[in-house]
Amino acid sequence: MNIDTTRPHPARMYDYYLGGKDHYEVDEQAAAHVLSVFPGIKTCARTNRAFMHRATRWLAGEAGIRQFLDIGTGIPTEPNLHQVAQTVAPDARIVYADNDPIVLAYAQALLHGTPEGRTAYLQADVREPERILKAPELHETLDLSQPLALSFNALFHFVPDEFRPYELVRQFIDALPSGSFLVLSHATPDFAPETWRKVQDIYTQGGIPAQVRSRQEVERFFDGLELIAPGVEEPHRWKPDGEVPDLSSADVSLWVGLARKP
Ligand SMILES: C[S@@+](CC[C@H](N)C(=O)[O-])C[C@H]1O[C@@H](n2cnc3c(N)ncnc32)[C@H](O)[C@@H]1O
Repeated sequence: MNIDTTRPHPARMYDYYLGGKDHYEVDEQAAAHVLSVFPGIKTCARTNRAFMHRATRWLAGEAGIRQFLDIGTGIPTEPNLHQVAQTVAPDARIVYADNDPIVLAYAQALLHGTPEGRTAYLQADVREPERILKAPELHETLDLSQPLALSFNALFHFVPDEFRPYELVRQFIDALPSGSFLVLSHATPDFAPETWRKVQDIYTQGGIPAQVRSRQEVERFFDGLELIAPGVEEPHRWKPDGEVPDLSSADVSLWVGLARKP
């Protein structure tokens, strides 16, 4: 396993924000630097995770979805997507993908699901949609002729425009049948532009490609799809379980959305 400890990695910095233990000194230093310019980053990470839980419950529950393809999965953090989905629908099948070898190193935790369901892990880069869509691991687990939920949570701010992110999303969507869903969460500079310029600089200086996006730019990912209410929203305002948590928009600094392919 080729774990590079000479430069920070986004999965490991995110693990630090979430209070995990699966990161190295270089990640801790970069994450502490982010925390010093943006103390909201831990709230941002936790609120993102809570959105993933609610979106997954909605998909497995109200939408009746039984197949999930989650790209940019991150280091396992309980509950993981398959645990949330299989609590609602024990027969749910999940394929996870991430390009960071550290996620592969811990992938076993992603592979223990219900006996009725199934999970698989693929080490892959979202910038190679064809490879992901043709992967045998994917086809052994998911049936692409049936609707599925495709999630890109907190991923596309690591895919700057030069990698044509909108075209990448389109390539994935085009491969899915009608009735499939796209779930996406994305960091935004909209509520604290100066802070996010600094945060983005810390990532790029650490060798991590990064580009945060405005609400309008995040909405573009959903072009041609039917957004489910409340549309592109702040994560804590997206179908909250009870009252909307009292969080500052600047601390959360994310746009999220869930949409159906017509
Ligand atoms: C901030 S974490 C989000 C984890 C999880 N999706 C969540 O929302 O809780 C971003 C993840 O995207 C992965 N990632 C970054 N660039 C990627 C790429 N080009 N292809 C696949 N995964 C990527 C990172 O390794 C990391 O695990």
